[in-house]
Amino acid sequence: MCPVSTNPEFHWQRRGQATIRREGLAVKAQTTDAAAAIDAAIAEHRHAPDSVLPILHAIQDRIGYIPASAVPTVAAALNLSRAEIHGVISYYHHFRTRPCGRHLIELCRAEACQAQNAVALAAHAQQRLGCTFHETTTDGHISLEPVFCLGLCATGPALMIDGRVHARVTPERFDALIASLEDEG
Ligand code: FES
Repeated sequence: MCPVSTNPEFHWQRRGQATIRREGLAVKAQTTDAAAAIDAAIAEHRHAPDSVLPILHAIQDRIGYIPASAVPTVAAALNLSRAEIHGVISYYHHFRTRPCGRHLIELCRAEACQAQNAVALAAHAQQRLGCTFHETTTDGHISLEPVFCLGLCATGPALMIDGRVHARVTPERFDALIASLEDEG
């Protein structure tokens, strides 16, 4: 029998190499997917008037967030500076620069909701989830983002979960909504 094949350390190393190689391929595939999504978004919208916003929206719709690699690519395609693209991304709260959790909660922080206990609801939401705005729970389950008006100003505080709006949300109702997300997985 080959002496190497009976060496447990050798098997461990082989497994380790295979794992590293698989992870490397996965990362490369993700990178390729993201690059393809960015290219597709640019190709689709580059001739639109004020094409920066449509392109950034399309990238976020495709990938779930705007990766750092999108900034130089979009800047070069539109003949703008990276600072200009970065400025647009950071100006609009809607744009995310990190991957989102499996569920996205967007809690309204605009004035009408603020006048209807949205401040207390925001504090409760952060305490319940254990993360602040622009963050994701440690298990990657839920991301919390601020939003500035969902069109439910008369029935605040309002929030949106995975694109579905909820009005008159109390802390108790928030907890019930989170529990249903946790049940869903
Ligand atoms: S201010 Fe919150 S929905 Fe309009």
